Amino acid sequence: MRKKFDKTVAVDNVSFEVKDGEFVILLGPSGCGKTTTLRCIAGLETPDEGEIYIGDKLVKDLPPKDRDVTMVFQSYALYPHMSVYDNLAFPLKMRKYPKDEIDKRVREVDRLLRIEDLLDRRPRQLSGGQQQRVALGRALVRNPQV
Ligand SMILES: Nc1ncnc2c1ncn2[C@@H]1O[C@H](COP(=O)(O)OP(=O)(O)OP(=O)(O)O)[C@@H](O)[C@H]1O
Ligand SMILES: [Mg+2]
Repeated sequence: MRKKFDKTVAVDNVSFEVKDGEFVILLGPSGCGKTTTLRCIAGLETPDEGEIYIGDKLVKDLPPKDRDVTMVFQSYALYPHMSVYDNLAFPLKMRKYPKDEIDKRVREVDRLLRIEDLLDRRPRQLSGGQQQRVALGRALVRNPQV
């Protein structure tokens, strides 16, 4: 895959495959194209060349919402006016999950991430690590493809 922004080559011929359940790290110096690669996979950027498959499906022409990909951003992008609980429930609410299913999934990730005592707080009332775990939880509740 390749991606340019005007004259800047952001991603220069990257090619890799990730197996189901595999844990992969993209490591490289600042500006080498890690975020752009992930944004292309999620559909937030369009590569200039190359193809992206999720499972057997070529996702090139699918909008982000139809790719079933989730991300935790470098800046956590939690909703400041919402409680931790509502931040976690939000992706499921948007997809019109029933209330009891939302509650079940939120309880699963809050236990996993040890934030179950923080559900009524706003993000600004949390430590950095706690905010990071809420952002992770918001990505996990949906159990996405990627
Ligand atoms: N929207 C954009 N417009 C123009 N140039 C961009 C844009 N986004 C990224 N770039 C440039 O593309 C290159 C790759 O950026 P990218 O954000 O993918 O790097 P990164 O590997 O995630 O870096 P870091 O470790 O600093 O987060 C950089 O030179 C960056 O300045
Ligand atoms: Mg980055």
